This record gives sequence, structure tokens and C-alpha cells, in this order.
Amino acid sequence: MIKLRDLYFKPFISEGEIQVAVQRMVDDIANDLQDEVPVFIGILNGSFMFVSDFVKLYPKPCEVTFIKLASYEGLKSSDDIQRLIGITQDLTGRTVVILEDIIDSGKTLAEVHRIFKNENVKELKIATLFYKPEAYKKDFKLHYVGIEIPDKFIVGYGLDYNGLGRDLPAIYQLKTTQHMTNLVLFGPPGAGKGTQANFLKEKYNLVHISTGDVFRFNIKNETALGMLAKSYMDKGELVPDQVTIDMLNAEVEKNADANGFIFDGFPRTHAQAEALDNLMDSKDSQINAMIALEVDDEILVERLLERGKSSGRADDADESIIRNRITEYYNKTAILKDYYSAQNKYFGVDGVGSISEITDRLSSVIDSL
Ligand code: IMP
Ligand code: MG
Repeated sequence: MIKLRDLYFKPFISEGEIQVAVQRMVDDIANDLQDEVPVFIGILNGSFMFVSDFVKLYPKPCEVTFIKLASYEGLKSSDDIQRLIGITQDLTGRTVVILEDIIDSGKTLAEVHRIFKNENVKELKIATLFYKPEAYKKDFKLHYVGIEIPDKFIVGYGLDYNGLGRDLPAIYQLKTTQHMTNLVLFGPPGAGKGTQANFLKEKYNLVHISTGDVFRFNIKNETALGMLAKSYMDKGELVPDQVTIDMLNAEVEKNADANGFIFDGFPRTHAQAEALDNLMDSKDSQINAMIALEVDDEILVERLLERGKSSGRADDADESIIRNRITEYYNKTAILKDYYSAQNKYFGVDGVGSISEITDRLSSVIDSL
């Protein structure tokens, strides 16, 4: 992922894929033009890299020149196309091939046709490396197209976002979700996970997604997914991961403008961690960190016994049950610790101290991401 000014872009088309497309265009054009000596005309600024690679590969004699037009402002094509440098040579009777980096709305192309209307060229052909069919509003023929792409903003290989990115050798696509901080929060029973999640969601404007709460909500409201989950639970079977993922997806979509999410209670297995990565990937986002509160077993036992006295929760009253829950937690999370460590995303945080001390420790991890 790269950042240009205020926006994030993700890798989209590699150098290798670009070269394959350029070579194919060269072959097609050389084949069609036979022994004609064409004038290749690049449209500046965006096409400089394409033209350079193209003519290096072109197997026969050719001329190369440029015209300079400007239409784009930021992320949008504007109506006002400026002709900065026009045609500077006589093109009467010549075969002209326009080399465009990208055709989007087609406004620039319309201007190109206006420019050539009175030039008496023998033939005017249009070749564009990238083409956004969904955005194209004109009906000028495009004779050669390198790669068709969706109607999303790209940078690299000559294309810019407000001046930056032209130098990148590959193509990057604007991320639909801008930068989010997504955390997986872990902690053994009694570590204070719930308390800390509440502070963090306020402080960072994150949405806390507790899988337990999501399940209860869906079942109580008899959503389609809730009913599906319940049908497995009623049979005493585990709810398939995909059902849980679909529920989490619904929560993520409900909160599309959040700064990020705190996942709590999910993932619990390697397969679930992968499924969560895929879910975030489909949202152009990612899990940034697994943060685990670390508290010594003896302190946990003490805390939980203390809590048991006032809460009356049966599972907080019996020391051997408490120890079993703690052991089970470590058995289950070891796999996830490995999974996220392998991606340098595991952060253990000392969970002993006052609530605000622990919040500060968690914050310094989040601020460092
Ligand atoms: P059109 O006039 O809307 O077809 O846009 C063509 C011109 O807009 C190109 O020559 C580029 O300079 C610019 N452009 C269109 N789409 C993009 C993009 O996704 N990234 C960067 N520039 C673009
Ligand atoms: Mg251009």
C-alpha cells in the first residue's frame, strides 16, 4: 500500500503485466501498419512512460512527438480541457497513432479529434494503454486498447494524483476504504478486555464488535443469519465460520464510516483468522494488530474470585473452573499468537495496573501502528 498526499492506494497492475500489454499493442500496431512510417503522438503528461516503453519495443522506423493537454483535477475529469502544446509539425498525408495513457470519460479524446479535424492526416488511430469502459461517454473508435480497468482512480506509470505518483513503475488503485485501524483484542478471562474495549472505542472512534453480542443480537431479532445460526445451535452443532463471517460483514457494512473496528471473541482458530483477513481484504482494509492483554495467572485467579463474590457468576466462584478457563484460553490463543506474530502484528500488553495505566499502554501500541 502507498500513500500520496491524503489518499491510500493499493497495488493493482504489476510492471510485468504492463509490459505484456505494451508488447501486445506494439505487435498489433506494427502488424497493421506494415511499411507505413507512423507518427506516434503521446498526450502529455500522463503518456510519457507508455510512449517511451512503446517506441523502444516498436520494431520498425517511426516518428515520435507529443501534444500537451490538461483536463484532470484531483480525482475527477473536468470539462475544461486546456491545450497547452498543440501540433508543431505538418502531418498532411501521415498515418498518426495517438498514444494515450488512459481513456476515462473520453473528453480528452474529443479534444484530440477536434485538434486533428483540419490536419488532413491520412489516418488517425487511437491507442490507449488503459481504458475505463464504464466511464467512457463518447463513441469515437478506440483502435487499440491495452488493459480494460474498472471505473476506479489509478496512479503510476505516468498517471498522477495531484502531481504525485507518475514515477511509479506499476499501477496502484485508490482504496475504496481509506485508512482504518482494525484490532483484534484478546485477553484471558479477568484481564479487563471489556473495560478497555470501551475506552478504546471512545478514544479512537472505533466500533466494538463482540461476536457474542452479534450472535445474541441476530438471534433475538430473528435475522436470516440469526435463524441460520440458531438452526445449528439447536442441533448441538458448531455454527459454520461462514455464518459468523457473514454476521461480522453485516456489522462492518452497517458502520461503513467508522475509523476502524475492535474484534472481540473472533477469530478463535487459524481458519477464522484467515477468513477475517479475507473479509477485511474485500473491504480494501486489513487487521492492523492483535493486541493481547497479559496478566499473570495468579492475579487473574484472585481478580475472578473477587468478582465472583459480588457478581454471583457461578463460573467466577470456583478456583479450579477459573484455572481451567485460563488454561483453555492459552491453548486456544497460542495458534492466533503465532498467526499474527508471523505478520508482525502481535502485541502483548501488560494488563496489570490501574485502568488508565493499561489504557495508556494500549494507546501507545495503537498510536504506533
Ligand atoms: P478523460 O478526458 O476523462 O478521458 O480522461 C483522460 C485523462 O484524464 C487522462 O489522460 C489522464 O490524464 C486523466 N485520468 C483519467 N483517469 C485517470 C486515473 O484513474 N488516474 C489518473 N489520471 C486519470
Ligand atoms: Mg493523459
